[in-house]
Amino acid sequence: MPTELSSDRGGVFAGDDPFAIAKAWLEEAKAAEVNDPNAIALSTVDSSGMPNARMVLLKDIEDDGFVFFTNYTSTKASEVLATGKAAFVMHWKSLRRQIRVRGTISKVSDADSDTYFLSRSVFSRVGAWASDQSSPLDNRGQLEQQAKKMKDELGDDPGRPPHWGGFRITPLEIEFWCDGPDRLHDRFTWRRDAVQSDWIVTRLNP
Ligand SMILES: Cc1cc2nc3c(=O)[nH]c(=O)nc-3n(C[C@H](O)[C@H](O)[C@H](O)COP(=O)(O)O)c2cc1C
Repeated sequence: MPTELSSDRGGVFAGDDPFAIAKAWLEEAKAAEVNDPNAIALSTVDSSGMPNARMVLLKDIEDDGFVFFTNYTSTKASEVLATGKAAFVMHWKSLRRQIRVRGTISKVSDADSDTYFLSRSVFSRVGAWASDQSSPLDNRGQLEQQAKKMKDELGDDPGRPPHWGGFRITPLEIEFWCDGPDRLHDRFTWRRDAVQSDWIVTRLNP
């Protein structure tokens, strides 16, 4: 059970498990959003402390983590591997709600990456082989040629390239935000000092 520092958490914020709340909100968003309800703005910092952000698709909300997939040699991957930390925000215009997450990050197992990779279309799988994500490209034709070459080489059932896989963000902080009347929005933040610690839930001024 979380430690509760406010007296009136309820409605869409109710529950003892922030991952279950996040899952429930995402399910509502799937029914309401035009597309990509699982898009998150993933935030990292580079070696000089300069922030960086880009969208990726959240592929799983686990019992204690948030999982996305990418190229392990991309800029984002270098940044998260160097710091071991990441944050993301997801916002649904249709629901007027936001979730923010901050935590530690690490690669998922090869087996989990394989399972997800093999669930993707052959076209997407070839793309993962062909794209040297985040590195310069002279022209689009080069990428298309590379994709064709890889398709011919790999055949109809390409396996996962070693440079591609998942990351799991294990949060130390999760904040749920919901639009309220007259800009009096509702905000609850779940914080824990360590992954093993209990959550402390606080209502924050909007
Ligand atoms: C809606 C949306 C979803 C995206 N999903 C992913 C994704 O799941 N994985 C990924 O590697 N890039 C995804 N991208 C592309 C990234 O935003 C980004 O351009 C790319 O990963 C390179 O980022 P980096 O150079 O910072 O590593 C997505 C872009 C958009 C707009």
